[in-house]
Amino acid sequence: MVLLSASPAFWYGPLPMNTLPAKPRILVARRVFPEVLERLRQYFEVDANQDDAILGIEGLKARLADKAGALTAATDPLTAEVIAAAPALKAVCNFAVGYNNIDLAACTGAGVMATNTPGVLDDTTADLAWALLMASARRLPAAERWLRNGDWKGWEFVQWLGSDVHHATLGILGMGRIGQTVARRALGFEMEVIYHNRSRLQAEREADCRARWVDKQTLLRESDFLVLLLPYSPATHHTVGAAELALMKPTAHLINVARGGIVDDAALIAVLRERRLAGAGLDVFEGEPRLNPGFLELDNVALTPHIGSSSRATRMAMAMRAADNLIAALSGQRPPNLLNPDVLR
Ligand code: 8YV
Repeated sequence: MVLLSASPAFWYGPLPMNTLPAKPRILVARRVFPEVLERLRQYFEVDANQDDAILGIEGLKARLADKAGALTAATDPLTAEVIAAAPALKAVCNFAVGYNNIDLAACTGAGVMATNTPGVLDDTTADLAWALLMASARRLPAAERWLRNGDWKGWEFVQWLGSDVHHATLGILGMGRIGQTVARRALGFEMEVIYHNRSRLQAEREADCRARWVDKQTLLRESDFLVLLLPYSPATHHTVGAAELALMKPTAHLINVARGGIVDDAALIAVLRERRLAGAGLDVFEGEPRLNPGFLELDNVALTPHIGSSSRATRMAMAMRAADNLIAALSGQRPPNLLNPDVLR
């Protein structure tokens, strides 16, 4: 989506070449598609980290020192220290819906606009939640490893028995846009859908999702498949730990496509190892990309490397949306996905 049809006049006004104001300098902190850089270069002088080395706090401080804006990912820690080291910074635009990498209070204090990319990744992330749910239910990763390993000596009637998805109870913890998208997909499997969210959805939205609100304990107790779709913050740290896992059915599966840290990974490994939980499908981990090695010893977990939004079309849409936000922010307009409106007061 292109929000600006024309470049701001003050960049391309009828000034002689040598008096044209310089384009604002921006950083693109992770590798993106060439089309995105091409678009940004129409407006900005772009420092693109196309080598994709993780910049970290020190790298960001160095590269942002002379920048007016940045396109960033969830892997870029925009801490108070980083923000303080960037005196010319006006906007940081995440190409992610999650923004727990950004210190919003520090941004607001320093007059820096922060944005994210809600909406454009809902379907793709919901698809991956379902892929992991199905993979865990039918034990796909372990069955495939076994087959590739040459262990399949013959078909057996009682072999690789999984869990049925159809007619089971789907539980969703965190019923925002992605949670609702996951819920709507359950219709084809004729599942019962229950959810828990801080605030209950309006009746017509519940009807659209065919979902019933329950308290958190009921959700944990009754779900055959529990999908986590909460944002990460200190308040949601270890929302699912040993006590919550103990409430779940031993036949249940836990799916996390939200953020590492929402689940206590060590506690999850313990219940999976002891078969107090049938399986898990995980796209995000505490301390990723390093995994708790306990996961690698389990055959009842499906693991993917934080690819929830990773289809070409969706990643393109996310980057272009982040570019829309940055172009708006640095041309004096309100960016469409502003996270800290107080910054404008
Ligand atoms: C991002 C995500 O691709 O949007 C999010 O919050 O988790 C992913 O879709 C990833 O975080 C990189 O920014």
